[in-house]
Amino acid sequence: MQTSTDTIQSNFSLKEFNTFGLDCTAGGFLRVDNPAQLSRLPELISRYENYLILGGGSNLLLPDYFDGLVVQIALDKLQTRKSDSDVLVNAGGGLNWHELVTFCVKENYGGLENLALIPGSTGAAPIQNIGAYGVELKDVFVCLNAFDLQSGEYRCFNREEMEFGYRDSVFKGRHKGRFIISDVWLKLTTKNHRINTSYGSLAAHLKNKGIDNPGIADVFNAVVEVRRSKLPDPGQIGNAGSFFKNPVVDAGNLESIREKHPDVVFFELKGPEVMYKIPAGWLIERCGFKGKFKGSVGCYEKQALVLVNRGGAKSSDLVSFAGEIQHSVAAEFGIPLEPEVNIVQPENYGNVISL
Ligand code: FAD
Ligand code: EPU
Repeated sequence: MQTSTDTIQSNFSLKEFNTFGLDCTAGGFLRVDNPAQLSRLPELISRYENYLILGGGSNLLLPDYFDGLVVQIALDKLQTRKSDSDVLVNAGGGLNWHELVTFCVKENYGGLENLALIPGSTGAAPIQNIGAYGVELKDVFVCLNAFDLQSGEYRCFNREEMEFGYRDSVFKGRHKGRFIISDVWLKLTTKNHRINTSYGSLAAHLKNKGIDNPGIADVFNAVVEVRRSKLPDPGQIGNAGSFFKNPVVDAGNLESIREKHPDVVFFELKGPEVMYKIPAGWLIERCGFKGKFKGSVGCYEKQALVLVNRGGAKSSDLVSFAGEIQHSVAAEFGIPLEPEVNIVQPENYGNVISL
């Protein structure tokens, strides 16, 4: 077992700690693998100008130098409480998300299978309410425990208090950077699983394989295969998944886009007012960026929404390429693209910026 110390490493390279593979150096780096360390964090952090909470670094665009303390959350306990038809899973914030999903599918716990192969940690999953293939974290979320860096106390957040939205929660808004998510409680099924194959490419993949009545393991395998067929493996090529969120427009906006682009792809969203989600990947591809590169930065050839670093890129290269995309999409479609990736920049530490 590892001992937990508060040893801060100076001038620490984060190259292996962010999936873009950016060569960022942190002024200080601390790994937290024991809950007892959390109570000492407010004092440790106060010695620095800035701080950044780090999970797996799969949704971050880091600067060349981070002038502050980077705190990596590595709390990895896992416990389960079974009842007749469901199970409560309590997972430490530092557990690898995909390993948790794999464990649950092997144990026949249903609910996470559509969220397979999403990189990163369990603690970060509620922050942007991770979602894929028709399921979002909020669908299985019960509550989480978080350490308040301001008060030095723990607080529990239930589902309502999380204010979940599409790639959004209270931790991206008014509580950004204030809490450390130590562990998350999820409620999963042990029988009568709610199989969700509503997502077009998932349904098509299962059909192609001749699977008519999939179980959770079939869905898990299909999601892994679909993802591998279109998303770059960060171990091979630097990326942070979708760089932008998919924009949501009202009926009027959609109609004016359809006048010029009758083939625009859109999905109707249910709600008090009918709104439409347009895939940002389609907008970006239509503006000619798919597979286009400037130096080592570009749009992945199989998925235009994924910006990649083929090696040696700087944060500023990605920011300026992303800006070009935003300008182009705004000029052609009148739609502002909002970054999904957390862009860490000196003037904006701890916040998501609008490019
Ligand atoms: P990090 O990138 O380390 O951090 C992200 C944010 O969370 C930062 O603001 C950080 O300060 C904060 N944070 C991290 N851990 C904690 C904690 N314990 N307490 C408090 N704050 C914390 N996302 C999806 O939703 N759906 C997808 O399908 C998807 N696919 C992806 C595919 C690829 C190839 C990649 C590279 C990324 C993808 N992502 C996807 C984005 C990313 O995997 C998720 O956002 C993931 O939850 C980020 O986890 P992380 O631990 O890497 O967070
Ligand atoms: N499309 C194009 N060209 C492209 C890419 C996509 O035209 O280059 C169009 C196609 O019509 C395609 C549609 O967009 O059918 C949807 O594409 P895809 O199924 O790949 O999904 P996405 O909308 O691009 C979203 C999430 C992903 C998530 C998938 C599956 C966002 C911002 N992204 O991508 O999440 O894995 O759906 O649910 O919502 C992430 O957040 O990092 C991420 C990868």
